[in-house]
Amino acid sequence: MDNRDGCGQVGSGEWEARADLVVVGSGVAGLTAALRARELGLRVLVVTKGAADGGNTRWAQGGVAVVLGDTPDDSVHRHVEDTLVAGGGLCDPDATARIIADGPGAVARLRERGAVFDTGSGGRLARTREGGHTAFRVVHAGGDATGAEVERALLAASRDGLVPMLEHHVAVDTLRTPAGEVAGLRVLDGDGVPGVLIAPAVLLATGGLGQLYQATSNPEVATADGVAIALRAGAPVMDLEFVQFHPTVLYTGHGARGRCPLVTEAVRGEGAVLIDSRGARVMDGVHPLGDLAPRDVVSAAITRRLADLGDDHVFLDATHLDRPTFSRRFPTVLAACLAAGVDPVVAPIPVSPAAHFACGGVVSTVDGRTRVPGLYAAGEVARTGLHGANRLASNSLLEGLVVGTRAAEAVAADLAVGVLTERRLAACQPVTTAPVADRDTLQRVMSRYAGIGRDAEGLAVVGSVLDVSAVDSALTTRRLVEDAAMTLTARALIAAAAARTESRGCQVRTDHPTTDPALTHGLTVRLTPSGQPMLDRPTHPVRGAA
Ligand code: SIN
Repeated sequence: MDNRDGCGQVGSGEWEARADLVVVGSGVAGLTAALRARELGLRVLVVTKGAADGGNTRWAQGGVAVVLGDTPDDSVHRHVEDTLVAGGGLCDPDATARIIADGPGAVARLRERGAVFDTGSGGRLARTREGGHTAFRVVHAGGDATGAEVERALLAASRDGLVPMLEHHVAVDTLRTPAGEVAGLRVLDGDGVPGVLIAPAVLLATGGLGQLYQATSNPEVATADGVAIALRAGAPVMDLEFVQFHPTVLYTGHGARGRCPLVTEAVRGEGAVLIDSRGARVMDGVHPLGDLAPRDVVSAAITRRLADLGDDHVFLDATHLDRPTFSRRFPTVLAACLAAGVDPVVAPIPVSPAAHFACGGVVSTVDGRTRVPGLYAAGEVARTGLHGANRLASNSLLEGLVVGTRAAEAVAADLAVGVLTERRLAACQPVTTAPVADRDTLQRVMSRYAGIGRDAEGLAVVGSVLDVSAVDSALTTRRLVEDAAMTLTARALIAAAAARTESRGCQVRTDHPTTDPALTHGLTVRLTPSGQPMLDRPTHPVRGAA
């Protein structure tokens, strides 16, 4: 790839491949899309920057929230209502209803592909409850290993040679036509050798952004790559300020870094309660659902209690569960606790909130279409309107299954009607150069100033630190690609967080502690021609927006 004049020619990558659809990411959304695309006769190619099973999906514990029609006290309508309540007024009700209505079919297809869910009496699927759900509707596998089972089944179904997968290949940027349509992807292989994948459709299924923070439940691959690729392709992102912190991540000591083990909310679904260092209940008097309040409410309550007591963790007391029950229902949590020297059957588990899920992302329809022709998104990277200001627990595997399927169908339909015609690539495909900040510095300032409890001054500090520390770099290694994605996404996130001068859902502003009804709409960020993240002019006035 020639970057001496900043203008590499397509085909000047050292290698090239072609497909109808390139899927970036091998988690639940990506694999579901790839399998459906193959069923529809598309030539599909999956690109993933780590090993095929290295993404976030396998770490999901709780399960898949779905109403299968065999629980008389529950309904799809009630699931939709719970989702809208958790989302703090920012869900798209139509998208929410459509995704949730597709849930039973999506779970049935997943079971046909070999996923095995836990059963209860009479062979019926077992159900648990998580925060914000008013019914037991979360189906699970392997006790608390639902994501691992979903990933296993989808990977097994993909390994018949018909879903080629490029592992250890990092997506750098889209290839575009002179009109700005997406027509392929620039990638680096495991040795950093550049290549191009020519395709009329690229589906981003790159997962989340937990690595923007020092402590997260996400694996190290969760570096916001898809958000950055989409922004650079001209697609808007929305709701990025709503980063969900999981209330109960295992506390392993002061200054924990990187991926921290999750203690699934389903433990509270089975009766565990949060207590502070004095033994007082954390959720008493906070919310009618108590310990099973929506996740944003629980994380904020823990954060307040920690500040009041000067502590750095609280405890999850699950000692009412006997050992056989705990090890059958929560084998993953048990193993993590024991490895950390805590026996949850005899002692409360030390926990604290950590970055967990991006409620916002690339603006997409429920069919995965973004605003840029040829570019699609599904899963955590996408903002479909299902999550609003705070995702309801276990709605994410559901979304990945539903939107992954629908996105593949949308690509097939768009190809069939000629929307994605053979595209002439722009002669000049500049090698991507982007500001890259030091990762450690970025994680520190994001954790300090852009976690739970933000204010205008702190967000401005993040902006200044990123401006000062970022250096323009050609994205020639996986590390640089990731760090550039985190730098850009952090800047977009803080722009939205600063403009949202209120507290709502996962955004807790200490300088604006109440919810402002005038801000009951999403904030959209896109890049200026010079590459700066900028808020779109809001439909309604947004106080404090640039
Ligand atoms: C959990 O099991 O608590 C996490 C599940 C989710 O984030 O949906």
